[in-house]
Amino acid sequence: MANQWFETVAVAQKRAKKRLPASVYGALIAGAEAGVSSKDNLDAFNQLGLRPITAGQPAERAMETIIMGQPSSMPIMISPTGVQAVHPDGEVAVGRACAARGVPMGLSSFASKPLEEVVATNPQTFFQIYWAGDKESMVARMERAKAAGAVGMILTLDWSFSHGRDWGSPAIPEKIDLKTARQHASEVLVRPKWLTSWVRSGALPALGVPNFAVGNDPVPGFFEAYGTWMGTPPPTWSDIASLRQAWDGPFMVKGVGRADEARRAIDAGATAISVSNHGGNNIDSSPAPIRVLPEIVEAVDGQIEVLLDGGIRRGSDVVKALALGADAVMIGRAYLWGLAANGQAGVENVLDVLRSGVDATLRGIGRSSIDELEPSDVVVPDGFCPPHLAT
Ligand SMILES: Cc1cc2nc3c(=O)[nH]c(=O)nc-3n(C[C@H](O)[C@H](O)[C@H](O)COP(=O)(O)O)c2cc1C
Repeated sequence: MANQWFETVAVAQKRAKKRLPASVYGALIAGAEAGVSSKDNLDAFNQLGLRPITAGQPAERAMETIIMGQPSSMPIMISPTGVQAVHPDGEVAVGRACAARGVPMGLSSFASKPLEEVVATNPQTFFQIYWAGDKESMVARMERAKAAGAVGMILTLDWSFSHGRDWGSPAIPEKIDLKTARQHASEVLVRPKWLTSWVRSGALPALGVPNFAVGNDPVPGFFEAYGTWMGTPPPTWSDIASLRQAWDGPFMVKGVGRADEARRAIDAGATAISVSNHGGNNIDSSPAPIRVLPEIVEAVDGQIEVLLDGGIRRGSDVVKALALGADAVMIGRAYLWGLAANGQAGVENVLDVLRSGVDATLRGIGRSSIDELEPSDVVVPDGFCPPHLAT
């Protein structure tokens, strides 16, 4: 069998593209409208420079850290993603990979595997919820997470139901039955490895969202859960503060893109934020998170943890984000490419690629630890950041 190891996240993405049916691959690429933000998330990292030294590099580099109370072997954790059908082992494979590599994981309320099964593979699991349903059902989901052993909560708020994509969104079936199997046959039959992995698993991609269920209610389908979420009035900051009271551990607000709102998240009781534009899937033209990171770090002033997600594909991206003030980063598509390409081993491979990239970058710029990184380690071109917002 050919060597399945890949040397960069870009190679993993190529393998994922080859392996997945076009509609599943398209759902991972996503990106709202013209894809301006999803592109900018990548471009922005490429616009930042580094200044390597030539001699005197540190012989050893340290990158262990603590993320929201959890020890992590590197400043990276898995960002929650709600995607079905990428791999039969889904988030269980991701959880195992994280446990093997010593990194925490965020698990989506739209994930394909029940959170109890995922926590069993990796006790360092944070559960992610959206503002969906009434307060009672949100609290019920949080209580279920607590009972399952989740170590923290992620409340994702940056979703505006901006549905249009200029390249056309892939069709997501309501359920897999004979009719949908026939409709998708042409794209699935040309992806025999993907199909075989599902046939071997003895199941078809389930389009239910088991972590959205409340109490003994049946597992809702993707569209039912999405409809509940869409029909829920958006929260005020005092609603968020009130929900936060129902969780007594680490609590992240994910999807912050402005200094003033970073302050509001602190006031609402968040212990962490993730500077994010949902991987460019929210309002198109929202700036890449790395561009607004400096203003947010300044506004937060060390009061809570600041994470960043969006566009991380290399270890050097991680180093750039940390140098500009992030405490750690989260990855989305990078691990999904790994999962699609080679299951658990593929996610481990992605984590290894990022780890060696962080290590090489630290060495190259002469830093013996991530704690030594500072803004002057990065060359920020003029005009890179939008004008700072007042808080
Ligand atoms: C296919 C897909 C599904 C996602 N689903 C969720 C989700 O269920 N919950 C959530 O908080 N974020 C979700 N996100 C956003 C990611 O957590 C993360 O913010 C984003 O992927 C980071 O950008 P990156 O993919 O460039 O790393 C999703 C992203 C993608 C690409």
